Amino acid sequence: MDSKVFYITTPIYYVNDIPHIGHAYTTTACDAIARYKRMKGYEVKFLTGTDEHGQKIQTAAEAKGISPQELVDRIHLKFRELCTLLNASNDDFIRTTEERHIKTVQAIFAKLIEQGDIYKGTYSGYYCIPDETYVPESSMGPNKTCPDCGRPLTIMEEESYFFRASKYVPQLIEYYEKHAKAVMPRIRYNEIMSFLKSGVRDQSVSRTTLKWGIPVPGDEKHVIYVWFDALINYASAVGWLDDPEKFAHWWPGVRHMVGKDIIRFHCVIWPLMLIALGVSLPTEVFAHGWWTVDGEKMSKTRGNVVDPFKMVKEYGLDPFRYFLLREVPFGNDGDFSELALVGRINSDLANDLGNLLNRTLQMIRSYRGGIVPSCGEYDSELCTMSANILERVDSAMNEYAFDEALKAVWEFIGRANKFIDETMPWKLAKDESQSARLDFVLLNLYEALRLSALLVAPVMPDTAKRIWTQLGINSAPVETQYDSFKWGNGAGNTIGESEVLFPRIDIEAWKKAKEEKKLQEEAAKATATIEHEPEISIDDFKTVEMRVARITKCEEIPRSKKLYKLEVDLGYEKRTVCSGIKAFFTPDELVGKTVILVTNLKPVKLCGVESNGMILAASVKKDGVSESLTLLKPEDENMPLGSRVS
Ligand code: MSP
Repeated sequence: MDSKVFYITTPIYYVNDIPHIGHAYTTTACDAIARYKRMKGYEVKFLTGTDEHGQKIQTAAEAKGISPQELVDRIHLKFRELCTLLNASNDDFIRTTEERHIKTVQAIFAKLIEQGDIYKGTYSGYYCIPDETYVPESSMGPNKTCPDCGRPLTIMEEESYFFRASKYVPQLIEYYEKHAKAVMPRIRYNEIMSFLKSGVRDQSVSRTTLKWGIPVPGDEKHVIYVWFDALINYASAVGWLDDPEKFAHWWPGVRHMVGKDIIRFHCVIWPLMLIALGVSLPTEVFAHGWWTVDGEKMSKTRGNVVDPFKMVKEYGLDPFRYFLLREVPFGNDGDFSELALVGRINSDLANDLGNLLNRTLQMIRSYRGGIVPSCGEYDSELCTMSANILERVDSAMNEYAFDEALKAVWEFIGRANKFIDETMPWKLAKDESQSARLDFVLLNLYEALRLSALLVAPVMPDTAKRIWTQLGINSAPVETQYDSFKWGNGAGNTIGESEVLFPRIDIEAWKKAKEEKKLQEEAAKATATIEHEPEISIDDFKTVEMRVARITKCEEIPRSKKLYKLEVDLGYEKRTVCSGIKAFFTPDELVGKTVILVTNLKPVKLCGVESNGMILAASVKKDGVSESLTLLKPEDENMPLGSRVS
């Protein structure tokens, strides 16, 4: 029988950098499944947290000039904020620097040494420092680079403790042969099976080259390898060390959700550790795909990292959650684009769901004074469909197919919208003899909405609540059991105030605003990346003679596309100056302008004309070319010509 205990975990996130969409994705998916299972009557534990040891963290701390402890204390808060931002319903948040975890890791390490499953040896191999992993020669990239991140590998040799992983591989293969859903989706299952069958070497699980880690008990020259440390978090959080009852309660129901990049750790190393410890294996590990951004790999150097905090601020939390889980079949890679997000907001949320709510409430208000009518029978199609949708959602959610579950819900919403068009309640309202029919239509619509809110609740908990508030229901959908829903029970309710759930976004105006913002950002970037000149003394500065002048003539220079030949008046003399400002002004615009002139530059010949000075201007440059330009002038343009600028 299906156990009603459901323990779901996110990977614990590295705190060497701030959260991005990848982290938001796993947390949102776990949250949706945790909420769904609670609504299905499961006892749920949802765990997330931070991975705070290892080389990555030590390096990031060194770069910032702070201690690793200071860094992790600071950055882990960002991940807690991410949970709050996403309205994640996690029951616990574990940090690997907490005592409950450190003690568990050391106890497990000691136990495995004692039983001979961890032994001391020497390790030598190609190591990727940023990824903290040895790379087998067979999978190295060109020129001995890391196949994952492309960075050069370093040869490392060190005394190391090894975990006797190879010993338990046959048992793991046997387990997976019997439990096809232990690794999902299928493509990952196949990948793991073929990896296991190709053989797994004993794993190095300690480091001497690094300080920032959990010391090996009894041999403090070594710290425990960060992945060995990190994977154990799932057990530390449920009392492996000192609360056997708690552990026995939660562990058999454990499920891990991870990105596809870390499945070997979760579906090979971790289960092998668990077999060695005599602990049962995770019921399911689900590996989701990766997001690219507007078709490109997301990276800091590309500057295209999607910031979940910005997205939520701009588009709202529930639309963001909805988009993440609806846009891409869970398990596949997907492409993130704000345009696609806006598209979903307008079509699925504002048009389909928002309109159904608005239209229904408005009709109940105008035709029935805001009170949901009752009627003797229910629309058989909507009512049957509702049962069918609940089943479809359930089987999709059991496969972590969030997109399929949402598609089913939207079919139902679509059917309800069509029901309005077909029954034309506005016509019924005009005909007294159709009053019972109108009651029938309004009640069925109300029920469709009441159920839709329940169905969207795991993915959009706040929206679900707002819908129910507008429907005049005080409780929260996320705290309601699916089984308690009965079609028709909403009769007699008094509806609440209406509000727009999702304002439509005007795509054209949105595109224009984005364009402008991009230009501004590029301009700011161009200014910010100006290389600075070396420091000079005030005496150096004083050697530059600058004076107020006025342009009195402006002529084209036949051979030059960029230059004007200008005559400038300094009050005490007139000079000829060549200036590369032709792209920005007509001669008429220039004549009469008061400017600042550098007067003691050595004369130069430009396109055959001798230039005796330089007019000062500020410009925004792209690839060395000015994109926009403005001339400097004294605030009071009536300053006597020739006045010195200092
Ligand atoms: N600390 C390890 C996990 C240890 S679990 C015992 C780690 N941390 S991480 O912060 O680098 O990554 C966390 C998760 O984010 C991984 O599941 C990873 O797949 C996911 N993502 C990172 N970039 C991503 C995308 N561009 N798209 C989707 N998810 C991505 O790995």
